This record gives sequence, structure tokens and C-alpha cells, in this order.
Amino acid sequence: MSAHTGSPDRVKPVLPRDLAAMRAAATPIVCTTAYDVLQGRLVDAAGVDVVLVGDSLGQVVAGLPSTREVTLDAMIWHTAAVRRGVSRALLVLDMPWLTYQVSADEAVRNAGRALAASGAAAVKMEGGTPPIIEAVRRCVEVGIPVMGHVGYTPQTDVALGGARVQGRDGDRAEALVAEAQALAAAGAFAVVLELVPAAVAQRIAEAVAIPTIGIGAGPHCDGQILVLPDLLGLNEGFRPKFLRRYAELGAAAREAVGRYAADVRARRYPDDETSFA
Ligand code: KIV
Repeated sequence: MSAHTGSPDRVKPVLPRDLAAMRAAATPIVCTTAYDVLQGRLVDAAGVDVVLVGDSLGQVVAGLPSTREVTLDAMIWHTAAVRRGVSRALLVLDMPWLTYQVSADEAVRNAGRALAASGAAAVKMEGGTPPIIEAVRRCVEVGIPVMGHVGYTPQTDVALGGARVQGRDGDRAEALVAEAQALAAAGAFAVVLELVPAAVAQRIAEAVAIPTIGIGAGPHCDGQILVLPDLLGLNEGFRPKFLRRYAELGAAAREAVGRYAADVRARRYPDDETSFA
């Protein structure tokens, strides 16, 4: 029984500290994104450890040109939907552009509202520069678990010169190590490393005591994350080097809808079996 509700215990949810234990035990941490209740239910049932409602929803769900158009209300609405499908995985809400960079006060207010309104357990923030570190530190101090994100950070892609691998030169690699260390020191419970050479990701993983979660960052991270529509083959035009597709659901869905359309046009659907007497 749960001590607080008196209701029968359900499945034990993954907590930030469980990720630290997985790192210590060298157990790979499996993460995906999800954007609605069906996707949340699906990845939770598949045993994913961390479900991120990424601001990638701007592109993969809404067809927007970047993640910068995504609002906090949109993140809350989608995260609350995913929440209804997830019972075990750690649910993380991605804080949108300019909801945490302006001041640490705003970061705390926005992150707190987002958690309370969506049911997420944690938030993610991009970057490792001093204002971001301060926002992370203040959120952690008031009890909001924060996941960091360094390397290629899509919210600042224009400043970074587009979606390109970060840390290929020594200075930038050193800066990424320092950013990850600062995030760990500020209390982040994990850090996403995006589009980073495998050797640099390995250096970061060795330099910090928190779990590293890679996307396009090679095999030395403590866990991996992929965007769900990408790994399922639904985002058919997107074929970066780091992506492995585990299904071709785009092609399968097109074929299924095509057969439905052919049946309707040929009056094969509905038939007796699919009609009420
Ligand atoms: O928005 C997102 O989906 C992300 C992942 C790619 C890590 O930030």
C-alpha cells in the first residue's frame, strides 16, 4: 500500500536517483521522446526508462521550422497527455526557448508551473553558460529535478551555425566538458549530449559524476535517447548518420491507408461484418 494514499501500490516509477544507480551499475539507460498518450503508453510498455516530451514536438508534431516557436502551454498540454500513458518511466518536460534563460526567478516559476500542471517529474534545459547554470542551480535548490543538455542545442541552432557536430576542435571540446561539469555541480541529475564526437562524449562521461544520455554522441554515454518518430521511421525524410530506424511505420501506414481508400472506393468497406444489424 502507498503510505500517503492508502491505495494499492502500482508499478514503481523511475526516479532521478535510479538513473545514478543505473550508471553506477553500468546498466544502459534507455530514453525516447513521446508527444501524446498513445506514444507514452507504447514506450512505457516497452520498458523505456526515461520519456522526454521534447520541444522537438515543434518540428516532428507541428511541422514548425525550429523548436523556438514552441510555447510552455503547448509543452504542458502534450506532457499531460503523455503522463496519462506513462506509469513507470521518468517523465521529463523540455523547457521551451526563453522560459528559463531570462532569469533564474522566471526559470523557477515556469518550471514549477510546468511540473504542477503537466504531472512531469523533471524538466530539461539546454546549454551550459552561466545564466543557464544559475537557472539549473536555483531550480534544483527549490526541489525541481533538472536534466541538462549540451553539445548541439537546437534552441540556439542559429548561433551554433546549424545542426552540426559540436566539439570537433579542442577549445570547443574543453568548453563542453566544462559546461557538463558546471551542470553537474549545479545539481543536474543527468545531461544529454547531442551531436558530439564519441571521444568527446567519453571525456565528458569520465569528467562528470552524473549520467550522460547521448544522441549522436557515440557508445560511451550511460544512456541513449532517440526521437520516437525518427526511430519508428515515421519522419521519413530525416536520415542523419547517428539514427538507426527500428521500423518503417511511415511506409506501413501509407500502405494501410491506401488499402482502406481502395476498399472504400470499391465499396468493400464497410461490409456485413463491420455493419450493425
Ligand atoms: O527536443 C528533443 O526531442 C530533445 C532530444 C533530441 C534530446 O531535446
